[in-house]
Amino acid sequence: MTLTEKDTEIIQKTWTMVRADSIQAGVDLFRKFFEANPDYVKLFPFDNHEDIEAVLKSSTLKMHAGRVMTALSSIVDNLNDPIMFEENLQKIIISHVQRNIELKQFENLKLALVQLLMDKLGTNIMDDQAKESWSKAYDVILETYKKSKQNSQSS
Ligand code: HEM
Repeated sequence: MTLTEKDTEIIQKTWTMVRADSIQAGVDLFRKFFEANPDYVKLFPFDNHEDIEAVLKSSTLKMHAGRVMTALSSIVDNLNDPIMFEENLQKIIISHVQRNIELKQFENLKLALVQLLMDKLGTNIMDDQAKESWSKAYDVILETYKKSKQNSQSS
């Protein structure tokens, strides 16, 4: 699956709008992710795993949300540069394979991310074409993750 120049342009344009308030967007992303998948909260080093509202207000979550947003920004910024793109992605993937994060969990983050973009930007900007571009780009992450997991299990 290859991203076209148009896909890249759409992704970079829409991401620029969302990352303008990066920490808030990151917190909103985790709100969606945890509300849809409450059991994932336990994977993170938060003090009180039971109370999602408290987690979302914590400085630990804000710091983590910032890191995830920065990582996503590097992926998006490097869509036009296959070598940097691959390097960036591999770094993130290796650290998550080592943490035993499941493919399903990555798939569920895709749902939260696309929903975040739709809520922030509306369906005029996040139209079917934009949704498709994001979906294709995230599927590259999923494919790479699947391969990395298989390699780590067979070695
Ligand atoms: C594109 C998707 C993702 C990106 C860009 C991303 C990014 C990051 C970054 C930058 C870090 C901190 C640096 C590091 O340790 O590597 C991190 C840590 C972490 N991520 Fe992700 N992540 C993604 C998906 C996920 C998913 C799906 C899960 C599982 C539910 C997850 C769980 C974790 C956990 C548990 C940590 C460690 C937190 C800590 O110890 O503070 N990540 N992630």
